[in-house]
Amino acid sequence: MDVIAEAKKLLEENRRTTDGHQYTLPSRDHYPYQWLWDSCFHAIVLSHYDPESARAELHALLSKQFKDGMVPHIIYWRPGILHLFSWGVEGTSSLTQPPMIAYAAWEVHRQSPDRSFLQSIFPALFAYYRFLVEKRDPRDHHLIGIINPDESGEDNSPRFDVPLAAAHDITFDDHLQLRKKLVDANTACKFDAELCMRDYFWVKDVLFNSILVENLRVLAKIATLLKHEEGERFGNLHAKLAADAMREYLFADGVYWSASGLDYTLLRVATWGHFVPLFAGLYTSEEARHVVHTELLDSSKFYAPFGIRTVSKQERSYRPEGYGNGFSWRGPAWMAQHWFIYRGLLRYGYTKEAADIRAKSIALLERSGFRECFNPETGEGQGAHGFTWGALVLDMLDESPART
Ligand code: GLC
Repeated sequence: MDVIAEAKKLLEENRRTTDGHQYTLPSRDHYPYQWLWDSCFHAIVLSHYDPESARAELHALLSKQFKDGMVPHIIYWRPGILHLFSWGVEGTSSLTQPPMIAYAAWEVHRQSPDRSFLQSIFPALFAYYRFLVEKRDPRDHHLIGIINPDESGEDNSPRFDVPLAAAHDITFDDHLQLRKKLVDANTACKFDAELCMRDYFWVKDVLFNSILVENLRVLAKIATLLKHEEGERFGNLHAKLAADAMREYLFADGVYWSASGLDYTLLRVATWGHFVPLFAGLYTSEEARHVVHTELLDSSKFYAPFGIRTVSKQERSYRPEGYGNGFSWRGPAWMAQHWFIYRGLLRYGYTKEAADIRAKSIALLERSGFRECFNPETGEGQGAHGFTWGALVLDMLDESPART
């Protein structure tokens, strides 16, 4: 199979236009809406060969921004949909997702320089990152809280089992029920982060905060280019504050973890979250060597025959086989996670190891097609069909080390 041709074809087939807004469905059958970080992945892929569609994708994503700056994690693009994760707002969710938008916008510009594009989206970008920094960090400790696991993009990751009171062997459906209950609680506190986090679920997530740090740096870079001094100061300052806070509160035993609650209880479940700080350059090179060799490449932990496990094999919650037709963040390998790890490895000069991840990603697509996720032990595809994240291999062919 020519995976690159297939990837382009899939993005084309999943493209939709509603009310003049153009966007891409992650999967026509399973995910017939627009999702936040998925759209960022789409824009990164499209930046290589269709910058116009890449720009349109990000414009569409930002078109439903809330007054307070929040960008919702799903836009339904269909009138009248009040979905599981909606509250009071018609047509979108009331949660957000990992803030990859500045990074994606920069990639689009990097591939096809267009100052006017950056100019057109900068106010929305700035408002979004300001929302995160101001509303999701009520104590000014510089770590962003998520109010629901879905905001991490890893809906049923065992990282969240303790704050959700989920058992390690919980089923997919029981887990969904817990998250639905949490959405009801979020609704009761009107999605006001300070109240929701205090009363229900307050996780300073390692993935969300790592991605935030990198994106704040990119925001500053965009601001510099646009000569927007306030944006430049804001991005640089908060990237540094968040990176320092991650070091203070989330770093233990050589790796970064997520933490929960007022007292920053570390959520010591070994997930691929250990590797996202590589993407954001948060480990020293010595620490990175340790993380790469004793975590990532250890086959008794994360390194599986067909991909990188999202949960260490040593965790009792590890479930490589997934759940029937559903997705799972309790072990299976996911393409975007391969992409983040690939970028992280290149950032630290691990060219050979990065090439291996790329080769594994391409092999998975050739073997099982563009599936949502994969059993890392057998390579078998799981979850949605025609899922776009596999298209990120197209971006993996760009081997430039540090982009931001
Ligand atoms: C699943 C994934 C989430 C993704 C969404 C759409 O819910 O867990 O990360 O954004 O599907 O693809």
